[in-house]
This record gives sequence, C-alpha cells and structure tokens, in this order.
Amino acid sequence: MKTVKIKDKEFELFLTQDVIEKAVADVAEKLNEDLADKDPLFICVLNGSFMFASELMKRVTIASEVSFVKMSSYKGISSSGKIKEIYGLEEDIKERTVVIVEDIVDTGYTMSLMIDQLLCDEPKEILVATMLLKPDALKQEVRLDYVALEIPNDFIVGYGLDYDGYGRNLPDIYKIKL
Ligand code: IMP
Ligand code: MG
Repeated sequence: MKTVKIKDKEFELFLTQDVIEKAVADVAEKLNEDLADKDPLFICVLNGSFMFASELMKRVTIASEVSFVKMSSYKGISSSGKIKEIYGLEEDIKERTVVIVEDIVDTGYTMSLMIDQLLCDEPKEILVATMLLKPDALKQEVRLDYVALEIPNDFIVGYGLDYDGYGRNLPDIYKIKL
C-alpha cells in the first residue's frame, strides 16, 4: 500500500515499519546501556506513543516501570490561549529517573510543558525519548536525550500518529501529499 486516503487528504508511504523498528531498537539498546542501574520510570504519552512505546519497551531489558499519561488540551487564560496539563500519573516520581516516551517533537512546546510540570514533583532527572523529531519545526529549546529518527517538516500519519483521530493504526508512516 503506497498511498492512503484519510478523510480529505492523501498520504504517501514515507517510513516503513522495518526502518522505524530498526531505529527504535537502537534507542532501546542505548537505554539498556545508560540506565541499567537507575531503576527508571518510563512515562509514555498517549495516544500517539502507543506503538512506539510497545516496540521500545519490548526491547528494554533493564529493571524499569512503565506508565501512561495523557496531555489534556483545553482553552484557558494564557498568551497562547491553550494550556496543556498532564493527567493520569499515579506514580510518585520524587527522586526517580524519569524517561518521557513521546511519538514526535514538532515545535517542542508540548515536551517543554511536560518537563516543567514533572519537575515540580522533584524527580532525580528527566530524560526524553522520542520516536520522531522535526528539527526544522522546533520553536522551543528542549533537551532530547534519545531520538529514533529525524524527519522533514511534513505532516505525517501512522505508527501511532493521527490525522484528526484517524491513521494511528497504520503500521508504516505516511506523509501528506502536497
Ligand atoms: P509540539 O508541541 O508542536 O512539539 O507537538 C507535539 C504533538 O503534536 C505530538 O505529540 C503530536 O501529537 C502532534 N504532531 C506533531 N506533528 C505531527 C504530525 O506530523 N502528525 C501527527 N501529529 C503530529
Ligand atoms: Mg503526542
């Protein structure tokens, strides 16, 4: 399947499952080396990271916990008009090594907000593992410790990422046809 139509948009095949999973395996290998004695808590950000998290965590062999959160998105009183807040975190992260597991860092605003909020609970350290990064879209400086793949600034779907809620289930990644 080289192209897919989702709602009003056409997408073309961009990254196959093989390519993605090879890159994810490399990240897992680094995590196993770097965090072996750190008893990390992996915090995976739903919905987008579900496939990445699954593939990654199958390959993480060190002692660790895995948990899932969501970022709420609602209108509030701020300069941007939007406030995002973490919800669903039940673990106490004080003095823990935390690894945020995210599908994609685009502008970096979401990741930056997440890190700021988690820092309030005084973890020992916060590391970030993202499947994808769009370096040309970054607007907010944010430290990314593990990046599986860097991609151009095109809208993509698949492997957890959606267009208006659809396409998350695609096992490969597709980019928008312009
Ligand atoms: P940021 O705050 O701009 O870095 O956006 C991060 C969030 O936007 C990600 O967690 C995704 O949910 C979503 N996002 C960014 N780029 C894409 C894309 O190309 N396709 C689908 N979702 C995206
Ligand atoms: Mg996301």
